[in-house]
Amino acid sequence: MYLSKEEEKILSGEFGEALQKAMRLLVTLGDIFKADRLIDSKSAQISGVSYKNIGDAGLEFIKDMARLHNKIKITATLNPAGMDFKDWAKMNIPVSFAKKQLEIIENFTRIGAMPSCTCTPYLIGNLPLRGQHISWAESSAVSFANSIIGAKTNREGGPISLAAAIIGKTPNYGLHLDENRLPTVLVKVKTELKSTLDYSLLGYYIGSILVKGIPVIEGVSSFTLEDAKSLCAAAAASGNIALYYISGITPLPSGWSKSMKEDKIEVTDIELRNIMDKFNPPVDVDIVTLGCPHATINEIREIAGLLKNKRIKSGKTLWVCTSSVNKEISHRLGYSKIIEKAGGLIAADTCMVVAPLEQMGYTALATNSAKAAHYVPSTCNLPSKLCSLEEAIKLIIE
Ligand code: F3S
Repeated sequence: MYLSKEEEKILSGEFGEALQKAMRLLVTLGDIFKADRLIDSKSAQISGVSYKNIGDAGLEFIKDMARLHNKIKITATLNPAGMDFKDWAKMNIPVSFAKKQLEIIENFTRIGAMPSCTCTPYLIGNLPLRGQHISWAESSAVSFANSIIGAKTNREGGPISLAAAIIGKTPNYGLHLDENRLPTVLVKVKTELKSTLDYSLLGYYIGSILVKGIPVIEGVSSFTLEDAKSLCAAAAASGNIALYYISGITPLPSGWSKSMKEDKIEVTDIELRNIMDKFNPPVDVDIVTLGCPHATINEIREIAGLLKNKRIKSGKTLWVCTSSVNKEISHRLGYSKIIEKAGGLIAADTCMVVAPLEQMGYTALATNSAKAAHYVPSTCNLPSKLCSLEEAIKLIIE
């Protein structure tokens, strides 16, 4: 990979060990993928934040970065951590876990990452522009950035997104190149998508059939922010979809029809219902988690509406996962009060997949997100039930 004189100097250690380490990571990645050069990166979303995922080795790596006085150069946000930083005790997070998690965040903050941990960075001020090159980890946000915003990012890992944030550059390969952003397969939706859950099911089905590839989805008429983030998350969870187009809604690149393969995928109600059946274990749910990807204010308003004057049964738990920004707005709008009065909790900065649920005595979880239903059994060792928002709440209220 070509390096400018200055980049060579960084790599040789002339500007210190911190920058050298970060540059080494980028150059190694660039060489593996045969990138021609480094390009400016305008934004980073850094994963590998929960103590549950990175453990002591990850904590030491971040402490090392902070000790070397590394500083992040571009807008950089963090993926969800293992707990709500303020209300972790209300979540019953073990104290030993909380101490380590707080140390991780302290060190990320020292190097200049925004100490707000969310998988919807585009809703809290990390919003790149169309066409900009960025370095995002977190598969649902990567897909949202590429497909909905029109920014350009590969699906990065935690250390690479951190290195890109420190250097302000990223290797030029994969989805940074226009020729790799052309759609490859047509997906015809032949059923009416009536809810955000349906979009989650559609994404899950496309990801599982296609695994990778770039779909153009036809037959979608209404499409909300909530639908978009759910589709992104599910397609990236069951497969490896990092970019899709919605016919008539997101702009297609010029000359796109030439790159299409002849095969097409048809989606009817049967395929979507089969996914619901897959996530329907015969269990008594004791925790309901909503907000995967992190809940928007619209979603929190809807949840508060369903919980008004209701009471969650004793022994049952409800977490509404969101960003700290949305938690504060929910507090100001009175939604938090309604949810807490019913016995639920708005859990900011964390989610059901990266919180240490497996250490907390729960036996079964329900969620309205196909991504969460997919990951919880393996990451938290809990059976997970997929249902609509209304059904999930019904499972735990008196
Ligand atoms: Fe976000 Fe956690 Fe779901 S990171 S996309 S809420 S699994």
